[in-house]
Amino acid sequence: MTQDTRTRAAQPTPSNGRPSTTGDHTAEDQLPFAVAGSGELDLSQDAPAPEEDDFRHLRGTAGEEDVELTPEERKFIRRRSLGLLVRASKGVRLKLLLTALAVVVSQGAQAATPFIAGGLAIDWGLPRLIDGDMTGLWVPAGLYLICAVTAGVLLYFYTRMTAEASQAMLFKLRDEVFRKTQALSLDFHEDYTSGRVISRQTSDLEALRELLDGGVNQLVQGLMFMLFTTLYIWATDFRSGLVLLAAIVPIYFLGRWYQRNAEVAYRRTRISSAKMIVHFVETMTGIRAVQAFRRENARSRQYKRLAKIYRDDMVRSIGLFGVLQPSLMLIGNVSVALVLLWGGFRVLEGDLGAGLLASIALATKRVFQPLDMIAMFYNSLQSATAALEKVSGLLEEAPKVREVPRPKRLPECRGEIEFRDAEFRYSDDAPVVMKQLDLHIPAGQTVAVVGRTGAGKSTLVKLLARFYDVTSGSLTLDGVELRELAETDHHRHVAMVTQEAFLFSGSIRDNIALGRPDASEEEIIAAAQAVGAHEFITALPEGYDTDVSKRGGRISAGQRQLVSFARAFLADPAVLILDEATSSLDLPSEQLVQQGLERLLGNRTALIIAHRLSTVAIADRVLVIEDGRVVEDGSPAELIDAGGYFAKLHHAWSASMGA
Ligand SMILES: Nc1ncnc2c1ncn2[C@@H]1O[C@H](COP(=O)(O)OP(=O)(O)OP(=O)(O)O)[C@@H](O)[C@H]1O
Ligand SMILES: [Mg+2]
Repeated sequence: MTQDTRTRAAQPTPSNGRPSTTGDHTAEDQLPFAVAGSGELDLSQDAPAPEEDDFRHLRGTAGEEDVELTPEERKFIRRRSLGLLVRASKGVRLKLLLTALAVVVSQGAQAATPFIAGGLAIDWGLPRLIDGDMTGLWVPAGLYLICAVTAGVLLYFYTRMTAEASQAMLFKLRDEVFRKTQALSLDFHEDYTSGRVISRQTSDLEALRELLDGGVNQLVQGLMFMLFTTLYIWATDFRSGLVLLAAIVPIYFLGRWYQRNAEVAYRRTRISSAKMIVHFVETMTGIRAVQAFRRENARSRQYKRLAKIYRDDMVRSIGLFGVLQPSLMLIGNVSVALVLLWGGFRVLEGDLGAGLLASIALATKRVFQPLDMIAMFYNSLQSATAALEKVSGLLEEAPKVREVPRPKRLPECRGEIEFRDAEFRYSDDAPVVMKQLDLHIPAGQTVAVVGRTGAGKSTLVKLLARFYDVTSGSLTLDGVELRELAETDHHRHVAMVTQEAFLFSGSIRDNIALGRPDASEEEIIAAAQAVGAHEFITALPEGYDTDVSKRGGRISAGQRQLVSFARAFLADPAVLILDEATSSLDLPSEQLVQQGLERLLGNRTALIIAHRLSTVAIADRVLVIEDGRVVEDGSPAELIDAGGYFAKLHHAWSASMGA
């Protein structure tokens, strides 16, 4: 297991209900949404059983890198994306309907203005005005004003409503993406890098925001405006309307061409943008290693390469738009020219009023104006669709480790653990790491787990912490299958402290209190004292209030371990797991913890993975793991007598201590 995955394993995930670094059970954990996959946008429940699924290769995040899709695949992906959008709109649909209504009226009013100015004012009003009849002025001016005010007021109303509706949808999606990624089990996160999660949450949702915020406005406004203007033109002069009808043909073909190409192009940009973000995030999270190994230039070169790919993909997509927009403009202008030409002849023949022709030409010009907006919408639609494909794929993922529908409760726990014929592999194509393990740990026993690097020690305890489920066989806590145990109960009874003690931003007090949110100040201090953390904390300028995320508040690796130890102490679980949790401590600190440990372990089951004799010495029992099997099992004294791996280890330790 790499350093990287261990770090992730060590990060508490408070609201997915699984145990974390210290088994902190915050209030959030008790909330119903903590149950993985209970969100209303969750797509993971819709997926059919794998054996009957034609689109298995596209389910979840599986098909994320596919660019060219068959028509059926496209349909499948589109249905999923659209389904997500429809679900996200739940709750704001009435608002959307009202907005649409406002747009219809507002655009109708606005489309009428050229006819009031042209047909009504010039052809009808002007002759009357010349005759001294003031109605020729009042009627068109009044109507114009009414239309303009109506359009303006409704536009305001409509802009607000769409903003509210689209932000509400994004809010829901954002929340859902966060909850989903947090709930997905470790096996998912080990494959799907954090950079990809970040790009789903940021750049993809941003693309969607652009569409919902600006794009839909543009589309609805544009379409309505076009529709009304076209209707007016048809109503006033049918023959000019025919020109508009003819223009639809090239527009249709242009649209199809654009869609087909833009779909692929934008899908590419989503992929290359995610790759770029992945590289960025990896470099910055590993900045210490990057600088220590002088990898800056190499990382920059790689980043540049990825950014170039992204740039080219973007240029290609925008290039397509660059063809679409002027082509539409050209079609529009040609149409206006045709209307003018044809209309001009008809004016000469006395067939058409000059004012009417002016207003029709004006209207024809305006019919095509929104095409610009619509093209823009189309552009953001393609970009958003590609993003939505990825987001909906992520939401379709189901956590492998999840709570069963009717979980068993375990209010009180003694801490008896039993592996029966348990087998485990990290993924279907990975080798078996844990082999037919039969292991019984009675309640209250302190077990030291030792073995070579990569032997499977961490794997053993991660199964107990339910980061993963056993692949076959059974693993029980107090006789209850871990798979069937309620997450909150499991969480309360099993706590784990790992080497990379993760602290959340906030004060040291808050970080300890994660162990038990309702703990009093005295209890927090008592926990810190018990593990020997109190001294260093009080020596900090701000003591327990020190903010661990702020410069100056940063504390050392060993101090972090002490804090997470205090956290576990406070949580008071029935089963405590320490995976190399004392490895960063100096000997005096470790001895301090040791004293606390002995008190702490008194009446609970403990599994301790340690590389130090002092830690192993307090165990009742030692398990030596070798290649996923327990090869030695007994009290420290027995194993030393037996002369196996542990005995050798023990001699080496003793020798080094004596030296
Ligand atoms: N997330 C993972 N995915 C795939 N294989 C893994 C993963 N984590 C660990 N392994 C593999 O499982 C085996 C056991 O790893 P494990 O972390 O349990 O070893 P360990 O005994 O804890 O070693 P160490 O003392 O170095 O911590 C190793 O072969 C490792 O490569
Ligand atoms: Mg390990």
